[in-house]
Amino acid sequence: MLHWKDGQPFSDRYGDVYFSTDSGVEETRHVFLRGNRLADRFAALKVGENFCIGETGFGTGLNFLCALQLFEQSAPPGASLDFFSVEKFPLSDEELRAAWALWPELNEQTKTLLARWHRRVPGWNRWNFAGGRVRLTLAVADVDEALPQLPAGCVDAWFLDGFSPARNPEMWSDAVLSNMARASCAGATFATYTSAGWVRRGLQQAGFAVERVRGFGRKREMLRGGLQGVKLVGTAPSSALVIGAGLAGCAAAHALARRGIPVTLVDRAPILASAASGNPRGILHARFGAGMVPLHRFVLAAYGHALALLDEVLPVDGVMRAECGLLQLATPGIEAQRIAKLATLEWPPHLLQVVDMAKASELAGLPMAHGGLWFPAGGWVVPPQVCARLVQHPLVTQRLGCEVTVLERTASGWRASGEGFSIEAGQVVVCCGHQARAMSQFSGFPLQAVRGQISELPSTAASEAMRAVVCAEGYCAPAAAGRHVAGATTTFDDEAVDVREADHEANILKLAAHMPGLNQALGSLDAARLTGRAGVRCSVPGATPLVGEVEQGLYCSLAHGTRGLITAGIAGEVIAAAMCGQLAPLPQNLLDALSPKRLRRNALDEE
Ligand SMILES: Cc1cc2nc3c(=O)[nH]c(=O)nc-3n(C[C@H](O)[C@H](O)[C@H](O)COP(=O)(O)OP(=O)(O)OC[C@H]3O[C@@H](n4cnc5c(N)ncnc54)[C@H](O)[C@@H]3O)c2cc1C
Ligand SMILES: C[S@@+](CC[C@H](N)C(=O)[O-])C[C@H]1O[C@@H](n2cnc3c(N)ncnc32)[C@H](O)[C@@H]1O
Repeated sequence: MLHWKDGQPFSDRYGDVYFSTDSGVEETRHVFLRGNRLADRFAALKVGENFCIGETGFGTGLNFLCALQLFEQSAPPGASLDFFSVEKFPLSDEELRAAWALWPELNEQTKTLLARWHRRVPGWNRWNFAGGRVRLTLAVADVDEALPQLPAGCVDAWFLDGFSPARNPEMWSDAVLSNMARASCAGATFATYTSAGWVRRGLQQAGFAVERVRGFGRKREMLRGGLQGVKLVGTAPSSALVIGAGLAGCAAAHALARRGIPVTLVDRAPILASAASGNPRGILHARFGAGMVPLHRFVLAAYGHALALLDEVLPVDGVMRAECGLLQLATPGIEAQRIAKLATLEWPPHLLQVVDMAKASELAGLPMAHGGLWFPAGGWVVPPQVCARLVQHPLVTQRLGCEVTVLERTASGWRASGEGFSIEAGQVVVCCGHQARAMSQFSGFPLQAVRGQISELPSTAASEAMRAVVCAEGYCAPAAAGRHVAGATTTFDDEAVDVREADHEANILKLAAHMPGLNQALGSLDAARLTGRAGVRCSVPGATPLVGEVEQGLYCSLAHGTRGLITAGIAGEVIAAAMCGQLAPLPQNLLDALSPKRLRRNALDEE
C-alpha cells in the first residue's frame, strides 16, 4: 500500500506522494498553517473559545501534528482546538513510525498520537491531546460518508489535502466541496497545495472566494481563500450541575471540567459509584454485529474512545485495570452465526481477530470448547476507580449525600433541591440511571430497571492459568487477588440489590455450559458460601442509551445497560461538546440515534 521513494512515503494505490519531497513539515507550515493564517488566529482566541480545523486526508497525520504544535505554542491557555479529519485507508503503526522518523522536532506530538492510534476503530474516533485542549476527531471512512455527518457551520479553517486531483478526484468532487461549504462557519478559510483549475472553479461554485498564491518549493502556485462574513462566537456555560455520580455522571463531569466549566456533582449516596457502577470489577467488552446498525456503530466508537480515555485517567497497572485481552466464544447458534458474519469483514488486528479453538485455548490459558473473537485490547477495570479518577479535577465539586427530589426551571437555568440543599446552574445533566424516572422531566421515559449480580469465585492453582477475560453466555475474568469475577445475571423489573444464592448458581451454570476447562479448574463451588454484588442497570427498549439534550439546558446520559464502562465516556463527551457548541465526537446520524428527542419522534410516528 505504501512504499518508500527517494526517502519519502509514496502511495501505491494512488501513485502519489503524501507530501512534498522537499520538506513535508515546511510544506505543511507554508500551505496549510500560513495559508489559513493560523498563528494569528490561534493567538487571538479568547479563554473558553474554540477553533475547528477540518481536513480531507489524514495520511501520516503530519498536518495535524504541525497544527497541534502551533496551537500549543501560540494559543492562550483556556482556548481549545478541534481537528476533524477523514481517512479511508489508515496507515499501520510501522508505516507511521517510519514516516514520523523524518520529523524528530515533532517527537513529543507523535508519541501521543501513536498511543491513541492503537485504539483506532472503523468509523469516528475522538482522542485528546495537550491535556484535553486539543481534540482530534478522525473519521476512518470514505470522505463522501463522513463529511455529510458534520454539523452545519462548525469549521473555521480547512486543509484540503487529498492526493493530486488527477489521481484522487473523489477527494475534490463537487459533493465534497459543497459539503465543506455547508460545514463551514461564516468567515471560514481554506488552503490547499493544488492550483488545479477545476478545483478552483469547484470551490468558487461552492461559495468560496479563491486566490492563487505562491506555492511551496517547486510548486509555482497554490490556492487559498474563504467565505464571507464574521463568525458568531458562542459562549461556554459558566457552570454545570451533574446529578448522579456513577460512570455516566463522572464521565460527564470529567468532559465538562476539561473544557474549563466548573461542575457540581451531586449524588444521593455518601460515596461515588454506589449503585450499578460499584462492582469490584467490570469488563471492557464491545459487542456488535456485522450489520453495523446504529447501536453497533456507536458501541464500536464508544469502545475505541473508552480505551483512549482510560489510557489517560487509569493506565493499565494490573491492579485497577488489566489489558489482558478478551475472548468472545462462538457458542453454537446465533452467536456462532454473528461471529461468522463478522469474520467475513476486514478488521484491524489490534481491534479484533478471529481465532479457532486451539488459538482461543492458548490465549485464554485454559482449554476452550470453541473458537471465537479475540479483542487484544479488552480486559477489566475496577469501575469505582474509573469514577474516582474521572472526577479528580479541581473544577469538579462533589456534593455527596444529597438526594435531588425536585428539579425545576428558573429564570436563568435550573434548580435542583432536596433536604437541606438547593443548587442552581445554567445547565444540568441527569445521570441517575433508572431512578431518573422519579423526576417529572423523565417520568415518561421508558427506563427499565434490570437487576444483575456478579459472583466472586475463589481461584485455584489451576484456574490461575486463565489469562484473558472469556465471554460466552456469561463472562469470567482472570484471577486478581485470589478471585475471579463471573457474571452477570439479568432480571427485569427487579430493583432489589440483595446477593442471592440462586444468582450465584446461575452464574456458575453459565460458565459450566461453555467453559468446561475453567469449570474444572475452579473445582467444586458452593454457591451458599460465595460472595458477590448485585446492582440495577438502567435500560431502554432497543438498548441504545439516551444521550443528549432533553430540553433547553437539560441533558441526560441514561440507559447504559450492560455496557456503561464503554459507553459512559463518549456520552459525557457528546454532552459536553453540545453544551459548549463544539464538534461532537460522533456523526450526526448517531447523535440522532442517541438523542432523547428520539422518544418524542417515535411517539409521533406511532400516533
Ligand atoms: C451486575 C452488573 C454487572 C455489570 N457488568 C458490566 C461490565 O462488565 N461491563 C460494563 O461495561 N458494564 C457492566 N454493567 C453495567 C454498568 O455497570 C452500568 O451500565 C453503569 O454502571 C451505569 O452507570 P450510571 O452512571 O448510568 O448508573 P449508576 O452507576 O447506577 O449511577 C446512578 C447514580 O445516580 C444516583 N442517583 C439516583 N437518583 C438520584 C437523585 N435523585 N439524586 C441524587 N443522586 C441520584 C445514584 O445514587 C447513583 O449513584 C454491569 C451492571 C451490573 C448491575
Ligand atoms: C496526500 S494524503 C494526505 C496527507 C496528510 N494530510 C498528511 O499530513 O500526511 C491523502 C490521503 O487521503 C486519503 N484518501 C484518498 N481518498 C479518500 C477517500 N475517498 N476518502 C477518505 N480518504 C481518502 C488517502 O488514503 C491519503 O491518506
